[in-house]
Amino acid sequence: MKRRHALLFVLTLIGFQICQAQQIDSSLGLKDYFKNRFLIGASVTPNSLKGQSGALIIREFNTITAENAMKPSLIHPEKDRYFWTDTDTIVGFAKRNNMKMRGHTLCWHRQTADWFFKDDEGKQVGKEELLMRLKDHTTNVVGRYKGSIYAWDVVNEAIDDDEKKEFRSSLWYEICGDEYIAKAFQYAHEADPEAKLFYNDYNTENPVKREKIFLMIKKLKEQGVPIHGVGLQGHWSNKWPSSDELKRSIEKFSSLGLEIQITEMDISVYGSKENMDENPGVFTAEREKDQAEKYKSFFEVFFKSNKISSVTFWNVSDRHSWLDNFPVKNRKNFPLLFDATFSRKKAYWEVTKLVN
Ligand code: GLA
Repeated sequence: MKRRHALLFVLTLIGFQICQAQQIDSSLGLKDYFKNRFLIGASVTPNSLKGQSGALIIREFNTITAENAMKPSLIHPEKDRYFWTDTDTIVGFAKRNNMKMRGHTLCWHRQTADWFFKDDEGKQVGKEELLMRLKDHTTNVVGRYKGSIYAWDVVNEAIDDDEKKEFRSSLWYEICGDEYIAKAFQYAHEADPEAKLFYNDYNTENPVKREKIFLMIKKLKEQGVPIHGVGLQGHWSNKWPSSDELKRSIEKFSSLGLEIQITEMDISVYGSKENMDENPGVFTAEREKDQAEKYKSFFEVFFKSNKISSVTFWNVSDRHSWLDNFPVKNRKNFPLLFDATFSRKKAYWEVTKLVN
């Protein structure tokens, strides 16, 4: 009897060690852990595809998004000039490494060059001209990457954060009214009928903004506009949102028959946007713990919902992220699953443990 117990103990120990070994098998990446659930990726630049960062991207991810290269002001800086080089580099990388690629973004109120909205004399263009420019831009950009880019953020951030306003008062809206939104989807669909077309926005877990986005998309669908999904950007923090609000957004948007993707995920370790937190720039043990829990709770929601087809992080590692400068200039943040030395963080193990 004693011998049987000893044998059982040894077998359990071996089993435990195999599991541990699996967990820290450094050749496994997020894409392996989540392979039966959803695509997993990061936003990249031609530079982040090189060296250690590039190796990490290949090991961990199976989808990428250009962080900046495809934004209108970068890819189409002047009326008759496109700048393809950076996007071509990123698309080439995705192809060589069998990765999917999302296109970001065709129509946005920011990072769109002034020429878009002005005629040769510097006067604001009218609706017809602006829509024609949007159509040309979309046809050329989507057309060039047809077959290489499977999903597009067609319209980015068209809804206002102000609870009393519906649409953001951008130049797009001022000149065209909300019609530009339906047109943007129509042009993208004509340029690549196979591509999945997304509306993309942040603060989608705010109940008021969620409702406004829901109503806008519902109307678009009723009008027969080709829209296939909604991108929850996922710029979250240790304090916000709650998993319940996230769950509600996923349920609400998918009730419209839409595909849901998390398109720009990061979890800021700060609670305040005004640098009011103690120890700015320090990744304290408490922040590390809170962030790991937050990541875990969000991934639990993704898994349970069964509605998420892709999760993309905004940037690769804490070495560099846009949150190092936003909303507080020069306040170092630590929002991702890899630290500044490209090592996996506590949050990484929390989310991968969920599928072990
Ligand atoms: C928004 C945009 C992104 C990016 C981030 C900040 O979420 O959609 O393209 O600019 O802001 O980097």
